[in-house]
Amino acid sequence: MEIQIPRNKYFASNDIIDDRYKVVSLLGIGGMGEVYKVYDFHNENKIVALKITPGTAKIDDTNARRFQREIALMSKLSHSNIMAIYESGKVGNRLYYTMEFIQGKVFHGNIWQNLTIEEGLHIFIKIIEAIHVAHQANIVHRDLKPHNILLTVKKDFQKNNQFANKIEYLRPVIVDFGIAKTVESQSGITKAGTILGTLKYASPEQVVSQKVDHRSDVFSIGVMLYEFLTGTLPFARDTHQKTLVALLQEDPKPVRKHNKKITRDLANICMTAIQKKESNRYQTSKEFGADLSLYLDGKKPVLNPNVQYHSPNKLLIVGVVVWLVTTLLTLYIVFG
Ligand SMILES: Nc1ncnc2c1ncn2[C@@H]1O[C@H](COP(=O)(O)OP(=O)(O)O)[C@@H](O)[C@H]1O
Ligand SMILES: [Mg+2]
Repeated sequence: MEIQIPRNKYFASNDIIDDRYKVVSLLGIGGMGEVYKVYDFHNENKIVALKITPGTAKIDDTNARRFQREIALMSKLSHSNIMAIYESGKVGNRLYYTMEFIQGKVFHGNIWQNLTIEEGLHIFIKIIEAIHVAHQANIVHRDLKPHNILLTVKKDFQKNNQFANKIEYLRPVIVDFGIAKTVESQSGITKAGTILGTLKYASPEQVVSQKVDHRSDVFSIGVMLYEFLTGTLPFARDTHQKTLVALLQEDPKPVRKHNKKITRDLANICMTAIQKKESNRYQTSKEFGADLSLYLDGKKPVLNPNVQYHSPNKLLIVGVVVWLVTTLLTLYIVFG
């Protein structure tokens, strides 16, 4: 999606940034800045994406440090499903970096409707495997949500259509490490109690304290998976207050209550990822991805071995048996 650029407020088409980049269009505006599609004069006029801190707000030290940290963290990671940084620089007091331009859509809405459950799960696995690489580098993304995952088609696809099926050529790319942190450095830049990112996909621990580890990302991906499978968000309510209460206290409606076509195993995988207590979730994104792969292979998922899952049907059968035995016993006692 490209946005019509309003004059004055943002860079306009044909504006030149840092004597090097010529603006084509505005791609997105988020909390941390603006993202433009630009030509790079120093690199054969190649099209790249350029993210730059806002020009309107006075860039304070916190914003600048956050943006620099985003650049530093992204530079540490190298994975085809994680956005890579090309160059970074400064124009006036505005910081920017450039990256691969993604011709694609956010992983949501229409895109989801055109995928089968299985195709969707394959993409989720790619996302989870990529975030596992970040986790291994001790980086927690903290803002995983559909708008920070772009879905594109692999480059070689247009040239030679050799892919056997859709999932082979679809490539999700995780962007926006704007509020990512290393596990060890969880103080300082964010004031305690400030919620950065979107509440809809945030983990309970994220809204209670800023101390989160990689299991918070497991939760956010779990929320996305729940939304993909059911068409609704597990904890979002009509007010901020109610959403907080739901996130911290209420059990989400079971996946199969929304969509009967989802198997019990898949529903359990999703529910494991969105457990409120970190220790009840998948302990690593690797385990989460492995379970989705097992599921796609027609095998039983492992889930979290420390958590008991009650299958409603089993409970029902036990209930009926207990009722039958009691009734028969009563009849036997009364009528001898
Ligand atoms: N490399 C890219 N190629 C194409 N579009 C992008 C790219 N990076 C970001 N965008 C678009 O810009 C939006 C905002 O970018 P993001 O990095 O998430 O910024 P913010 O921190 O402001 O949320 C994204 O949701 C996406 O639509
Ligand atoms: Mg974003």
